[in-house]
Amino acid sequence: MYLTSIKHLVKEEQYRKTKSIVEKFGEPGGTGELLQKKLLEKSDNTHNWVYDYWLDDMYLNQRLALPVNSNPAMVFPKQDFRDHKDSLRFAAHLITGVLEYKERIDTRELPVDFSRGQLAGTPLCMKQYYRLFNTYRLPGLKRDTLIIHETGSTEQEHIIVACKNQFFVLDLVVKEKKLKEMDILTQLEKIVKMAENSEERQPPFGLLTSDGRTEWAQARDVLIKDSVNRESLAVIQKCLCVVCLDDPSGMEVGDTSRALLMLHGGGHEKMGANRWYDKPMQFVVGEDGVCGTVCEHSPFEGIVLVACTEYLMKFMTGSPSKMGRATSVSELPTPRRLLWKTTPHIQGLLKASAERLQRLVRDLDMDVHKFEVYGKEFIKKQKMSPDAYIQVALQLAFYRCNGRLVSTYESASIRRFHEGRVDNIRSATPEALAFVKAMTDQKTSNSDSEKMKRLWDAINAQTNSTIAAITGMGIDNHLLGLREISQEIHMEVPEIFTDETYVASNQFILSTSQVPTTVEMFCCYGPVVPNGYGCCYNPQADHLLFSMTSFHGSTETSSAVFIKALDEGLVEMRDLCRKRNKPQSNTAAASKAVEKSQGAGSKPLSTPQKTGK
Ligand code: COA
Repeated sequence: MYLTSIKHLVKEEQYRKTKSIVEKFGEPGGTGELLQKKLLEKSDNTHNWVYDYWLDDMYLNQRLALPVNSNPAMVFPKQDFRDHKDSLRFAAHLITGVLEYKERIDTRELPVDFSRGQLAGTPLCMKQYYRLFNTYRLPGLKRDTLIIHETGSTEQEHIIVACKNQFFVLDLVVKEKKLKEMDILTQLEKIVKMAENSEERQPPFGLLTSDGRTEWAQARDVLIKDSVNRESLAVIQKCLCVVCLDDPSGMEVGDTSRALLMLHGGGHEKMGANRWYDKPMQFVVGEDGVCGTVCEHSPFEGIVLVACTEYLMKFMTGSPSKMGRATSVSELPTPRRLLWKTTPHIQGLLKASAERLQRLVRDLDMDVHKFEVYGKEFIKKQKMSPDAYIQVALQLAFYRCNGRLVSTYESASIRRFHEGRVDNIRSATPEALAFVKAMTDQKTSNSDSEKMKRLWDAINAQTNSTIAAITGMGIDNHLLGLREISQEIHMEVPEIFTDETYVASNQFILSTSQVPTTVEMFCCYGPVVPNGYGCCYNPQADHLLFSMTSFHGSTETSSAVFIKALDEGLVEMRDLCRKRNKPQSNTAAASKAVEKSQGAGSKPLSTPQKTGK
């Protein structure tokens, strides 16, 4: 499968070399067999043989700054606040919703999710929900650590409120009574007042969390030499979540600018320092109505984030604020401002972090686009999988812009397995290449029926890869497992993993993910390589929403150019579908493929991944 996935993406000579390396690896009695045996042994002793390897590889070993490069954001609908107090009321209501949701988590009341779409109806692992509010990503010099506090622990009865780059502790339990919404609002008002007091203002320490992970870890080592800093860091580490009360950004409020403000806060001159990027759940409430969440990604996927934020949105719109009080105002203690001890050295570190964040802000090229010509209902009517169709359209757009296809990542949920996170659907299939060539080749004009056949081949290939990936038959996690276990047994890294093809095949120039929502909001994230695109899409019944990112620093990419090509391709694909009804033989082939894989899904898997249910 690996060779098939890369053959058409590399030069012939390189492919021949890779093929011989892969064949040597797979020889009977060879390295591959040995590593597979070790991996099977590991699978006997763990719930999920890939989870730790995957977490390190995907997140904890990564050294790039969290904003843009790693933390996804969820952008809420623009709020129309009448005044500042209105935005605080919204924040208090949101926090009340968070506490209600957290209680459902702690009392294990959340209903089990079931898969939808392809192979619908399987129960899914719920572990990710139990890491929403009790985790923290601690920076390390070489590797970060994901700290998990016990759920429901009493240490965790506070949130951190960021306001004007200051951090405040908002205790949620006072004299053994849980604060009610009115109490929370009173505390937020006090915090805003305190933040305005410029005499007590502390330096913008949140900036350090926006830096590269090694830089932040080095800075943290300096910080913790002082007990005041140690104490402040410990309090942040244990909070439930961060709520950032943002000043108006001064930017024109559109989808793209709101997404930018969520991803990086607009840099240190705007709201970029009013954040603590290590904390997995960070809610933003802007006075100008720009609201959303920005999340540290290592504990959970976007789908779980959507479930949580949709709950909150429904809570916000469905339940009017109950402005009751648990405590009399005089009993409410003043929220605590976190203090920092600084030195000229630390001032220098803050300045360096601010500059690096600014560079990231300037570099991000973002385009949030609503394609309104049609949505997933049209695609379903063609008897095609909307996700596969969109992926093929993304390949067409990339080919139009670059004249080639590249290694592509599409996240596939493997929550059918205990502790399952994601594997990769490699969407740049040979069939997709044949289709995009047929659509773009100027010299040989292909007939519509030829193009349609190629489209069906591409859709079927994509659908089959999806089914393979979601049922634990993807190749990326398996290869990662083999690579990592070779290190555990102190073997020299096998050539298959040092080969330039393997290295290139893991550089995901196109990094894509479907994050659908049922209420009005959208997800976005940055590219994963300097010359790449990040594309998060949200298919709706009558439109498709794309959040496209790339870096201005690359001469090879442009989000606007990509979006234009995507728009054109989607219209051409619709026209093609309209002209050509689906050939009978392909209908049969597609349903056969689905039936076959549905059969495979219900059988025990031959890969060593265990189901947790
Ligand atoms: N004809 C008609 N309808 C079809 C069809 C066909 N041939 N194939 C699929 N459909 C329907 C499905 O039944 C489904 O219907 P619904 O909207 O009523 O539920 C809908 O089209 C969507 O299915 P599809 O587009 O095939 O995608 P999917 O929902 O199965 O999603 C993945 C595919 C890969 C996105 C999904 O399995 C997944 O893994 N999602 C998680 C991604 C993730 O983790 N993202 C976050 C990363 S941080």
